[in-house]
Amino acid sequence: MRIHSPHPKFVLSFWATFIFLSLASCSDRTVKVPVSATYSSIQAVTLSQKCLQCHSSLSTYEGVLAIVVPGNPSSSELYRQINGGGMPQWSPSLSSEEIQAVYQWILEGAPND
Ligand code: HEC
Repeated sequence: MRIHSPHPKFVLSFWATFIFLSLASCSDRTVKVPVSATYSSIQAVTLSQKCLQCHSSLSTYEGVLAIVVPGNPSSSELYRQINGGGMPQWSPSLSSEEIQAVYQWILEGAPND
């Protein structure tokens, strides 16, 4: 007796469904990056991952301070650019937590903490 192998179309749709479900479950698991209002956290979570590829000057505290007015977020080019100013260029905008952390850090005087 001949054993029937599954119809090729069935095999194909099985794999298509499997791959679709795997991808769907992956994108569900949005990784929440904890960021706090300190220079070290902002540098590690935001600047080094989303800005340095274009702005190497933002790799140091002094470089970041050059675009910050301590105590005054809305006068700070850093805050203005991430809060509706178009940065990071060609990338999705930062999460509200990241923007809030930068705001708070500048408001607190932008310490090197
Ligand atoms: C893909 C490259 C790219 C990325 C990523 C990027 N920028 Fe920019 N950025 C630019 C370019 C090009 C300009 C100048 C032209 C313009 O303003 O559109 C600019 C301008 C700026 C300016 C205005 C002052 C200046 O130096 O000209 C600031 C501040 C700035 N970016 C901050 C940031 C921050 C903060 C991030 C990360 C959240 C970031 N950028 C990510 C390319 C980038």
